[in-house]
Amino acid sequence: MELKDIKKVLILGAGTMGQHMHGYHVTFYDISDKILNHSIKRIEKLGSSFFVPAHRITIEQLKEIMGRITATSNPADAAKDADLISESVPEDPQIKAKVFAQFNELCPERTIFTTNTSLLMPSKFAGATGRPEKLIALHFHDVRTTNVVDVMPHPGTDPAVIEVVHDFAVSISQIPIMLHRENNGYVFNAMLSSICTAALTLVTTGVASVEDVDRAWMGVMRMPIGPFGMMDQMGLKTVWHVNDYWAHNTQDIPAKQIQVNADFLKLYVDRGELGAKTKKGFYAYPNPEYANAEFLSGKVKK
Ligand SMILES: NC(=O)c1ccc[n+]([C@@H]2O[C@H](COP(=O)([O-])OP(=O)(O)OC[C@H]3O[C@@H](n4cnc5c(N)ncnc54)[C@H](O)[C@@H]3O)[C@@H](O)[C@H]2O)c1
Repeated sequence: MELKDIKKVLILGAGTMGQHMHGYHVTFYDISDKILNHSIKRIEKLGSSFFVPAHRITIEQLKEIMGRITATSNPADAAKDADLISESVPEDPQIKAKVFAQFNELCPERTIFTTNTSLLMPSKFAGATGRPEKLIALHFHDVRTTNVVDVMPHPGTDPAVIEVVHDFAVSISQIPIMLHRENNGYVFNAMLSSICTAALTLVTTGVASVEDVDRAWMGVMRMPIGPFGMMDQMGLKTVWHVNDYWAHNTQDIPAKQIQVNADFLKLYVDRGELGAKTKKGFYAYPNPEYANAEFLSGKVKK
């Protein structure tokens, strides 16, 4: 298969991450029509209130994109004629394996299976898909602010599939980051998670405050945001989930310290302070202290 053969993209799971817009015929599949209706409305809203005002697409292009999107909760209808699947179902290896196995039965033989998993290694569920040579990770970041995707094969991925998925990423205006082998956290998230772990450890071991850790980063790097501000943007539930996962699964960094960091995050999660999206996390939004011109000087106190 070559890029020119990809005409229809099937998105499995229409939650937060299943909503990237493509220049292809796109079908959304999810477990209920209610979720699908809600997702289609969210995509239209994201287009009209973000992509159009940001001049990334015109209103005419948005109409054309919406015209190419269909949604169904019928798996057989969804799978028909699919050339490439982008899977964004929950981050659970059993659910992913089950959904891929189901679509392996329904999709044409040519269909490429891509997964948007954040933490799981594709090799862990490659066998269960029934077509391991056609499975590869295509991992999106926040499509509102970035256009970088990780393309990560597992040891059994066919090199021809890697090439098509690279070309596909370019065709949807993404910058493909090509991984030579499986790696936890891909490329950017692996770097980011080291910075966040270091920042959390500085706070949970009593070395410095949240604000001073951010101030150090912002002041030296000349950046508008520090690690704790970034974690608020990612959502503290997600950050806690990742830390809690690593506390139980890593052999690299002392798991005990990561568990301390995860427990610290859990205090915020339990209070419903999930970061920017709930208007409170390490900082209060919409006007977080770090966005104040005085923040770097240390004159603004919490
Ligand atoms: N949220 C992020 O910032 C982010 C970023 C990159 C990657 N991801 C990855 O994307 C995936 C989904 O994350 P999310 O945040 O969009 O989750 P989400 O919970 O918002 O969405 C998951 C969707 O999958 C649907 N679903 C559940 N079971 C299904 C099934 N059997 N068949 C089809 N659909 C099913 C749910 O109804 C829901 O709509 C995860 O693997 C996650 O790690 C998330």
